[in-house]
Amino acid sequence: MASSNPFSDPLRFERQVRPCALVIFGANGDLTKRKLVPSLYRLAFERRLPTGFAIVGNSRTEMSDEEFREKMRASVRQFLEESPFDEDVWRDFSRGLHYVSGDLRDPGCYQRLADKLGEIERAQLTGGNVLFYLSTQPSHYEAVVEGLGGAGLQRSQAGGWRRLVVEKPFGHDLDSSRLLDHAVHKVFPEEDVYRIDHYLGKETVQNLLAFRFGNGIFEPLWNRRYVNSVQITAAESIGVEGRGAYYEEAGALRDMIQNHMLQILATVAMEPPALFEAAAVRDERAKLLRSIHVMSHDEVAAHAVKGQYGPANVGGRALPGFRQEEGVNPQSQTETYAAATFFIDNWRWAGVPFHVRSGKRLAKRVTDIAIQFNAAPHRVFSGLPGGAGMSELAPNLLILRVQPEEGISLRFLSKQPGSGMKLRPVSMDFNYGSSFGMRSPTAYETLLVDALTGDATLYSRQDMVEASWQAVMPVLEVWGNTKFDFPNYASGTWGPAASDEMLARRGQAWRVP
Ligand code: BG6
Repeated sequence: MASSNPFSDPLRFERQVRPCALVIFGANGDLTKRKLVPSLYRLAFERRLPTGFAIVGNSRTEMSDEEFREKMRASVRQFLEESPFDEDVWRDFSRGLHYVSGDLRDPGCYQRLADKLGEIERAQLTGGNVLFYLSTQPSHYEAVVEGLGGAGLQRSQAGGWRRLVVEKPFGHDLDSSRLLDHAVHKVFPEEDVYRIDHYLGKETVQNLLAFRFGNGIFEPLWNRRYVNSVQITAAESIGVEGRGAYYEEAGALRDMIQNHMLQILATVAMEPPALFEAAAVRDERAKLLRSIHVMSHDEVAAHAVKGQYGPANVGGRALPGFRQEEGVNPQSQTETYAAATFFIDNWRWAGVPFHVRSGKRLAKRVTDIAIQFNAAPHRVFSGLPGGAGMSELAPNLLILRVQPEEGISLRFLSKQPGSGMKLRPVSMDFNYGSSFGMRSPTAYETLLVDALTGDATLYSRQDMVEASWQAVMPVLEVWGNTKFDFPNYASGTWGPAASDEMLARRGQAWRVP
């Protein structure tokens, strides 16, 4: 049944979740313990979940409700960020935790789930409202959707809503994403499908919308006449952290660029929506993703670089190379670093390069967006004695810091004190933490509340998913047919030399964030 979508709070001030149940498939997995349950506990701690809120975990492992609660308690204690663990809150919250074990290909599993949901509906007055969360291995997605459909769980007899959250990856390439979509739509209508891209839930990514469309001064500059280039970096210092087998199949382009990075790119470059409302915002994002120039195979070598980390000794610690990680082929050709330059074929951005890079085991953990403006058209100071020198060339940069610190800085030139007219870059800084003095919700907190209240603004839609697959397919195809000499960067560095060379060919360089 279509969701009634009753969100009366489009700017998401104090959105209230109504009594409902959340079913997590893959409840024994990493995401559940690191992100989902700690985020839900945190929402309970902030009294953002109703009394009649229930969670039903599912996985193959046999466990009682009590054992599941104990397991989740340990995860919350371990992974809860920046807040105290409160025994009273936990006691109330954990009463709503239930567990149903079962094989996802066994119809009996969905029957047991239906019975459990029936009990919960009666005891906790959830009105039949259920959010199903797919957090299993992606190869099980279709089976779960089919199983839910087989048991009629996509519809509530009591007239409540039913929604489905799908974790990334949405397919392995364009064709498989279409097949998955087809399977999902056989059971759930599009308006009940929430494809999660947690980067869209990050405060600073959301703030990009506020920054661009809530202010009058930046938007007039936000185009090819004033912007020289854009760099989007998502660097991680960690390696594959026990996810070697998954990562060996995925690689950085599929894991980060096809989804998170292109969604950031779309948020930076999209046109202003007429309203801050799901359909309007998603239409603009989708339009932008469709305008990304799809490279020809011949363009790939000049516009994309692939890297893989080797073993290294970082700060006295011997770190394995990717090929030595568990679950990874010792001759692996999978990339742990990917960089690409995208162009957008529209009036606003024609000719402006968007350089995007992401990698594991890089020099530090940082995600940011740097908008580089054109240099002043005439160098007024360069002829003066003791004059500006090289620094006059330093371009104006607007840096939107997504993590770990969240904020915005604007770099411009200023006169250095003293005689002469020596210019030096300085920066004007806004820092989220110190300006607001309050903690930002994590992306999963934001997105879970959104799905539970029926707001899909920050979720991906199938046309967006397809457009971003389309943008990376030529790169995947060419890389799939090329043999790389790996490893080609050492852990703790900024990636392969080929990536610097790619930008150097355009007379540009990656920033050191
Ligand atoms: C996930 C990727 O989607 O995002 C991981 O699968 C990556 O490989 C993670 O580490 C990064 O997320 P965050 O929020 O820590 O930047």
